[in-house]
Amino acid sequence: MAEFDYDVLVIGAGPGGYVAAIRAAQLGLKTACAEGRETLGGTCLNVGCIPSKAMLHASEYYDAAANGTMESMGVEVKPKLNLDKMHGQRRDAVKQLTGGIEFLFKKNKVDWLKGYATFKDAHSVEVAGKTVTAKNIVIATGSSVTPLPGVEIDEKIIVSSTGALELEKVPEHMVVIGGGVIGLELGSVWRRLGAKVTCVEFLDQILPGMDDDIRKEAHKIFKKQGIDFKLSTKVTAVEVKGKKATLTMEPAKGGDSETLEADCVLVAIGRRPNTEGLGLEAIGLEVNKRGQIETDHDFRTKVDGVWAIGDVVPGPMLAHKAEDEGIAVAENIAGLTGIVNHDIIPGVVYTFPEIAGVGLTEAEAKEKYGEVKVGKFPMLANSRAKTNHEPDGSVKIIADAKTDRVVGVWCIAVPAGTMIAQAAQAMEFGATSEDIAYTCHAHPTHSEAIKEAAMAVQGKPIHI
Ligand code: FAD
Ligand code: NAI
Repeated sequence: MAEFDYDVLVIGAGPGGYVAAIRAAQLGLKTACAEGRETLGGTCLNVGCIPSKAMLHASEYYDAAANGTMESMGVEVKPKLNLDKMHGQRRDAVKQLTGGIEFLFKKNKVDWLKGYATFKDAHSVEVAGKTVTAKNIVIATGSSVTPLPGVEIDEKIIVSSTGALELEKVPEHMVVIGGGVIGLELGSVWRRLGAKVTCVEFLDQILPGMDDDIRKEAHKIFKKQGIDFKLSTKVTAVEVKGKKATLTMEPAKGGDSETLEADCVLVAIGRRPNTEGLGLEAIGLEVNKRGQIETDHDFRTKVDGVWAIGDVVPGPMLAHKAEDEGIAVAENIAGLTGIVNHDIIPGVVYTFPEIAGVGLTEAEAKEKYGEVKVGKFPMLANSRAKTNHEPDGSVKIIADAKTDRVVGVWCIAVPAGTMIAQAAQAMEFGATSEDIAYTCHAHPTHSEAIKEAAMAVQGKPIHI
């Protein structure tokens, strides 16, 4: 009889965990995946990436019809919102995709252990009252909403991203606490559908972590679209009376407080790793100051046989980062060489236009390389964007001045999320700005703006 029930047991079936489980099974390892939720796919498929994009996509159509964009192209329609139907198509997308993972588990012979897993020792966990043993255990438990002290989320009036995806009617006034990715994406959804949206951000600019020029430009675009911003402001209390919430706010550095009324408050101030109830104490594994599980480059924790990936470990909390770590950890467990290049992980905000970046900001690049060369190109001068009535945005390329190697690409454009893939690939291959400038790009495409920004690094763009 085998020493363990499984070669690999993955805890959590989000993009990190389900991908690790499938890859491990593909590599011939006997694999199980424990998931406490009723459906597979984790945050991303159930309450994150997928349902938010379903609402963003549908509300974008509504907005294009309502705000005169379609009319300006000769398409005259008067939109009528059927919110139930919009929610229905969101639920359908989630159902199909989570069901798809269940199909992939069966196809690859991954056993789904239904329930939350708790460590008993480094090679065994308890799931739904049963003890299961494995030679290797991968922690992929993901993350959940960071609460705001003193503000209780009821998912009706004070909502997290999960409640904000499910609102039964369009709020009159939605206040978003946090000008990060969730605040801007979900704030955009309800603004497009008719809500007045106010975004309260603690810092002096939205979208922390992105390049400063891009943050400023994005702020201008969202303001133009009608989102109100209160920057350098902190919310100190939210009181709910009946169907209304009253927020008390004060300047981040202290000062007189003011109040704001809303019928919906979205708390989007970040996410924190899920380790509670996992029984880490049973295996002597500690978390760092941010509550994350630290690993080495191969995703091994300090405990032999226990590995960790995804939102529960340091790094950007992104589905594709979790997925790539899932593949790499399975390959490492199988004795192969699984690697993730954490320097080149693109990030995309799926607003209109999209905002995307990969690599270093200009400030980070200057700190790392000293002298840098920067090339910029406005979407206004891109023929396709102009023709499509999409003038907002720009591309910015940052290269190391000594070698011309591209070290950061930032982009605001309607298809920025798709455009950034070529930048990530170029950077993986160590491309210089000259390499990109001399690569033939199809015309007329938004991607030509990347080529022109690279030409601008070289000092010679054609169209500006
Ligand atoms: P998760 O997806 O969080 O999955 C972890 C799973 O583990 C969960 O299903 C949980 O139930 C389960 N679990 C936890 N503890 C246990 C236990 N003890 N036993 C068994 N199961 C357990 N990222 C993007 O890249 N693009 C996007 O567009 C995007 N949009 C987002 C929109 C929203 C509204 C949110 C909230 C997030 C979004 N993200 C997006 C982030 C993305 O969802 C996460 O980075 C990603 O899901 C992390 O994957 P993971 O596998 O590490 O964890
Ligand atoms: P975030 O970290 O992107 O933004 C949180 C914002 O809240 C920051 O700007 C921060 O300064 C601000 N903040 C913190 N405390 C505050 C306070 N008390 N008052 C006012 N503002 C405050 O976090 P968010 O938007 O909650 O998203 C969580 C994670 O989910 C992101 O880090 C991202 O990795 C992931 N995500 C990714 C998406 C994508 O890839 N398109 C979409 C949605 C989420």
